[in-house]
Amino acid sequence: SALPVTSETSTLDSYRTDDGYANVNWDELGFGLTTTDYMYVMKCSKDDKFSCGELSLYGNIELSPSSGILNYGQGLFEGLKAYRKKNGRFLLFRPEENALRMQIGAERLCMNAPSIDQFVDAVKQTVLANKRWVPPPGKGSLYIRPLLIGSGPVLGLAPAPEYTFLVYASPVGNYFKEGREPINLLVEDRMYRSTPGGTGGIKTITNYAPVLKAQCEAKAKGFTDILFLDSTTKENLEEAASCNIFILKDNVISTPDTQGTILSGVTRKSIIDMARNFGYQVEERPIPIKELMVADEVFCTGTAVVVAPVGSVTYHGKRVQYKVGELSRKLYMSLTGIQMGLLEDKMGWTVEV
Ligand code: COI
Repeated sequence: SALPVTSETSTLDSYRTDDGYANVNWDELGFGLTTTDYMYVMKCSKDDKFSCGELSLYGNIELSPSSGILNYGQGLFEGLKAYRKKNGRFLLFRPEENALRMQIGAERLCMNAPSIDQFVDAVKQTVLANKRWVPPPGKGSLYIRPLLIGSGPVLGLAPAPEYTFLVYASPVGNYFKEGREPINLLVEDRMYRSTPGGTGGIKTITNYAPVLKAQCEAKAKGFTDILFLDSTTKENLEEAASCNIFILKDNVISTPDTQGTILSGVTRKSIIDMARNFGYQVEERPIPIKELMVADEVFCTGTAVVVAPVGSVTYHGKRVQYKVGELSRKLYMSLTGIQMGLLEDKMGWTVEV
C-alpha cells in the first residue's frame, strides 16, 4: 500500500531505522533497470501550481490514451544520483540544478513545473523510501529519474490540462559496457540531434528516441556511442547520444558552448569549475571536428556516464586514437570523491539526506 507521506523530516526519519540491503548482486550492476520499492507522484492542473505529492508503491501508471505526453511528446526527464556514505547517510549532487533545468524545460514546453524545493524534497523522499536499494559505498549509486509529463488529455495540439511529476529510482553501476575503460566514438555524419531554436538545450523526452537509429547502427559496428555535429555547419562538435564532450590540447580544455543546441549538463558544468580550480584554462566555444582529430585527450561527461575517457574517434572512416586519459582520471577521481563524500566538498555541491 502507499506510504502516508508528508515532506516533514519526522516522516523521512522513519525510513532510517532499517539498515538492511535489497537482494542485489552489487558487483554486477550496470546501467539496466532494477525496479525499487517506491516512486513519488505529484499532479497539478494547468491552471494551478503543484502542491502536494506522495510516495506510492513503484508500478505502472494509468494514462489517458490522449495524454499530451503520448500524443505530442510533452515531457521532460532528469537524472541524478545518490551515493551511500560510510556513515549510512546519502549524498545527492547539486539536485537544485536538475530542478532548475526542469523549470527551464517546462517553460519551453508550456508545462507547469515543481518548485526547486518540491523537486528536491521529492528526490529526497524517493531516496529514503528506497534506501535499501542504494548500493554499498564504492559499489555504485542510486540513479534517480524525475519525469514531468503532460498527463491530461488533448486532441488538438495544445498544452495538456494536467501535469504529473514522477520520481523513480534504480541502483546503477557503470553506464558503458567498457566500465572505466576508454570508449570508442563514431562521429555521426547523416543525422543531427538538434537545430538552433529547437529543443536540444532542454532535457525533453523527444530529444532521445531520434538518436536511437544512429546509436544502434554504431553499436552494431562495435562503437560505444555516437558523437553529433551541429546541424548548421556540420563542422562543430555538439554532444554524444548520452553525454557531453571535452577535449584537451596543449593544456587547454575545451568543450562545445551550449547555444541552446546541446544539453547544459550538471556534470559538464561541475567539470568546468573543477578543471579551472585545478588551474586549467577552460574554453566553451565551437569546436571544429578537425580539432577533435588532433586532440591530446578526449573525455565525455554526464550524470549517468560520470567522466568517461575516449580511446578513439572515427570520422568518415578515419580512426584516431588518444592516449590513456590522465586528465579524465584526475577529474573522475575528484568528482566522484566529492559525490561519495570522500573528499572535502569545498564548492558546497552535495546535499546530505
Ligand atoms: C543522464 O546522464 O542522467 C542522462 O539523463 C542521460 C541518459 C541518456 C541516460
